[in-house]
Amino acid sequence: MLVLWLALLLLDRAEGLSASPLSWLRVGPPESATATTSSAWPPPRRGAALVYDPSTKHLVLFGGTGANGALADVWAYDIGTRVWQQISTFSSSEQPEPRHTFVYGLYLNDTQPAPVPPRRSLIVSTGQGAQVFSDTWALDLDTWAWRRLPDNGDAPPTLYGSAGGIVPLLPGRPGVPRLWLSHGFSLKTRYSKTWVYDLRAESWSVVHGSINSYDPMKPHARCIVSSTVTADEQIVMYGGCAQNGGTGGQCPARDTWRFDTPVAPGKRYARANVTASLQGSGAWHQASSCPTPRTRGAMAPLASPAELRMTGGRYVMLYGGFETDKQTISVSAAPDDQLPVLDLDSGLWLMLRAGGQVPAFRAQAAVAHDLATGRVWVFGGQLRDGGAISADLYMLQGDPAVTPPHSVGCGSSMLFPYLHGLFMGLGWGVLLQAGWFIARYFKAHDPRWFHLHRACQITGLVLSIVGLALVMSGGVKANNLGFSHGAIGLTTMGLGLLQPINAFFRPHKGAKWRTQWEWLHLWSGRSAVLLGAANVSLGTFLLQGPAAVWIAWHSLLGCFVVACVVMEVRLQRALRLARTAPPTAAHEDGSDMDTTIGSSKAGGSGKWRRGSKEAELPRLVVGAGGAVAEPAGP
Ligand SMILES: *[C@@H]1O[C@H](CO)[C@@H](O)[C@H](O)[C@H]1NC(C)=O
Ligand SMILES: *[C@@H]1O[C@H](CO)[C@@H](O)[C@H](O)[C@H]1NC(C)=O
Repeated sequence: MLVLWLALLLLDRAEGLSASPLSWLRVGPPESATATTSSAWPPPRRGAALVYDPSTKHLVLFGGTGANGALADVWAYDIGTRVWQQISTFSSSEQPEPRHTFVYGLYLNDTQPAPVPPRRSLIVSTGQGAQVFSDTWALDLDTWAWRRLPDNGDAPPTLYGSAGGIVPLLPGRPGVPRLWLSHGFSLKTRYSKTWVYDLRAESWSVVHGSINSYDPMKPHARCIVSSTVTADEQIVMYGGCAQNGGTGGQCPARDTWRFDTPVAPGKRYARANVTASLQGSGAWHQASSCPTPRTRGAMAPLASPAELRMTGGRYVMLYGGFETDKQTISVSAAPDDQLPVLDLDSGLWLMLRAGGQVPAFRAQAAVAHDLATGRVWVFGGQLRDGGAISADLYMLQGDPAVTPPHSVGCGSSMLFPYLHGLFMGLGWGVLLQAGWFIARYFKAHDPRWFHLHRACQITGLVLSIVGLALVMSGGVKANNLGFSHGAIGLTTMGLGLLQPINAFFRPHKGAKWRTQWEWLHLWSGRSAVLLGAANVSLGTFLLQGPAAVWIAWHSLLGCFVVACVVMEVRLQRALRLARTAPPTAAHEDGSDMDTTIGSSKAGGSGKWRRGSKEAELPRLVVGAGGAVAEPAGP
C-alpha cells in the first residue's frame, strides 16, 4: 500500500516536473455527437469561474453567460475519470444570482488546526447578470453549500470586469485568506480603487484609493481587464477598456500592470505572509507592452520546473481576449499558437509558441491552474469576431523556460485615439500655436504675417475638427465628455470655431464694434491656444501610451514656451522704449502704440519702428498681449 502510494506520488511529481515545451491538449467535449459518452457536458459559456481542487483532483465550474444569458450552475469534472457532474448546490437561505465576468479564486480554509483537514471554497465576488453585483459568496467544495459572505467594512460598489483573485495554492503552504479586487465598472462609472476581502475577518478594506486619470505612473480606471494573482501575492492586470464611464483612454488597452499588495513580501519567491496586516498601501508598477490590445482576456500564473515549482510561479500567461473594440482601426491578430507569457522577474513579455492541439483564439475563457504540476485548464469562451460561444475544455502543460519563441513577435495596432492625438497635436499643439505666435511677434512683416496667421489657424482648425471626429468615431459617448480632457476639449473647440465665424463678421477698422471685436478675437484666441496646449498635455497622460509620446510633446511645448518668453521680453523692451521715446510725426495719437516691430533688428538695437505700410496699419491693441490686425488694403 505504501509502495503504491509512493509510486503514485513519484508519478505525479514526474508529470509535473517534465521540462517539455508548453503544449495544448484538447480534453473535450467529444468531437462527434455519436461518440459514446454517458457523461454530460456543461453548456457553452464565457466569463465563468473555473478552479482546480488538488485534494480531490476535480475542476469546479460556476456561472458565466451562455446562449440564454447568465448562469448560476455548478459542475465538477473528475480529472481521473474524465466525467462532468452537475452539482445540486444548496443553501440555508439564498444562492448567488446568475452572473459572469466576476472575480474568483480557490480558498484553502485552514482556520481549524490540524488534524482537521482544511476546507476548500470557491470564492466569487461581484459580476454582471440581471444587474451588476457587489456581493461575495463562498461555495464549500465538500458540502456544496453556498454562503453569502458579509459585506462588512469598506465594501466595493456594484462592479464587473474587475481584476483580482486569490493567491494560487501551493503544496505545503497554508491558505492565504484574502481575495483581491481592483478596478471594474458599475454601468455608470469606471473604477481604479483596489480592495481586499479578509476571508477570516470577513470584512473589506480599501488598500489603494482612486487613481487620477492623468497620473502616468498608475493604471487608470478601466474594466473587462485580464488579470490574475501571483504566488507572491501581486495582482497582474493587462489591457481592458478605459473609455466612457466618466473617463477616456484606450479601449482595448495594451498596458501591463503589477500591484505589489501591502502583504507582498517584495522579494521574489518569498512566501506570501498569511497573517500579514493589511495596513499600508500597495504600489502599482508598469511592465512592458507587447501583446495585442485586449479586453476580456484570461490570465494564469505559470511555473517553470527549473526554478523549483514549490516556490511559486515566475511567469504569468495571457490567454485570448477580444482584440478589437469600437476604437480599433486595425490590429495584427495574434496567431492561435502564440502564447504571451510575462516574466515577472524582468517585467518583459515572452511571445512563446505553444504547440499541440491548439485552441482557436477566444475571449473570456475560464482558467484554472495548478502550480504544483504546471497545468492550466481553459473552459469555454467566445471565438473571434463575435463567433460561437464554446464549451471546449483544453489543458496546457509544459515549461515556459524551454518553450520556443513564436515567429510573430509583438502585436501592432491602430486605434482612433492615436489618430485623434496626432491630429489634435498637429492642430492645437503646433499650427494654432504657431499662428498665434506669428500674429503676436511678426506683425512687422505685413501683410505676410496675416496670410501665414490665417493659413495656420485655418489648417489647425480643420485638423482639430478631424481630430474630434476621429475620437467620436472611436465610440465616445456624448454624455461621457464631463471629465477634464473632454470638457476642456469641447470648450477649446468652441472657442476655436468662434474665430472663423467672428472673422467673417469682422467690422472694418474704425467701424462701430471694432474695438469690441478685436478684444473678443484676441481673448478667445488666446484662451483657446492656452487651453489647447494644456489639453494636449492632458491627452498624452490620459492615453497612457508610450512615454515617448508625452516626452516628445512636452519637449516641444518647452521649446515653444522658451521661444515665447524670449520674444515677449524683446517685445516688452521695445514697447517700453517706445513709450519713453518722443513720439514721431507719425504718432498722431500718443496712446496708440504699435507692436509692429522689426523683430530681428529692433530687439537687439533697442529701437522699434513701424512696418513699412505704417500709414495703412490698423489700430493695434497692445498691452497685456498680442495685437489684432488685418492686412492693409482691401
Ligand atoms: C472557514 O472555516 C471556518 C471553520 O471551519 C468556518 O467557520 C468559516 O466559515 C470558513 N470560512 C469560509 C470563508 O468558508
Ligand atoms: C507577517 O506579517 C506580520 C504582521 O504584519 C508580521 O508581524 C510578521 O513579521 C510577518 N511575517 C513574515 C514572515 O514576514
